[in-house]
Amino acid sequence: MAKDKIDMELPEVLPEHIGFIMDGNGRWAKKRLMPRTFGHVEGAKTFEKIVRYCRDIGIKCISFYAFSTENWKRSSEEVTAIMNLLSQYIVKAREHFVEETRIVFVGDKSAFPEDMRQQMISVENDTRHFDKMTLLIAVNYGGRDEIKNAAKLISRKVKEGKLDIDDITEETVSEHLYTSEFPDVDLLIRPSGELRISNYMIWQCAYAEFYFSDVLWPDFLPGELNKALHSYAARSRRFGGV
Ligand code: IPE
Ligand code: IPE
Ligand code: MG
Repeated sequence: MAKDKIDMELPEVLPEHIGFIMDGNGRWAKKRLMPRTFGHVEGAKTFEKIVRYCRDIGIKCISFYAFSTENWKRSSEEVTAIMNLLSQYIVKAREHFVEETRIVFVGDKSAFPEDMRQQMISVENDTRHFDKMTLLIAVNYGGRDEIKNAAKLISRKVKEGKLDIDDITEETVSEHLYTSEFPDVDLLIRPSGELRISNYMIWQCAYAEFYFSDVLWPDFLPGELNKALHSYAARSRRFGGV
């Protein structure tokens, strides 16, 4: 009992933006001799629990890597299962409205069917005015793709005479990313034992603190998040200073 209490105690300093790479669903299912898609269903449940917990403890911005620009390489069966889960979530996302959560889908939406794209835009518009917490869901997202896209947008402005090349700053690049309105990642969490960021928010993670865990995503419940929060709070962030 006492141990549970200690585990759930929160540190004083909390990150403003936590990024989650939801990895390990397939291995979680394999360990149970189940198809990979079963792992994605369980992973979606964990996603919901973590979103609610973050909202309850007052985190301002959370982002989740749901589907990468590289994940199209998977079998069509697995891609379809993930897309179906995503569609279900978009519809269900409306449940979060009452909880004052703004929802934004980051990534290249043009790859999705028109009805799905419209649903995403409608959820974004309907939640735009909420400011308790922002939930970013990265779908068909790739950090390199995002930077390439920003380069195109900026080049177009230069070509049209709306922007001078010498006025391009780091802020200009940030302002043309999908995350232009949101803070950089403070804490990036990757469960499942892999020690890489797999193209996730590579610009926004320039000064992020990393937390890696061997726990597979479906098992990454609030107690595990608290361990990450304690680890984060104990670090000294210097941003190149002393
Ligand atoms: C992450 O879990 C979910 C997505 C990439 C959509 P994985 O499916 O990558 O699970 P593992 O890494 O194969 O265990
Ligand atoms: C990263 O996981 C992508 C998502 C969680 C959506 P992957 O399983 O695709 O990453 P790699 O292949 O292990 O680098
Ligand atoms: Mg994986």
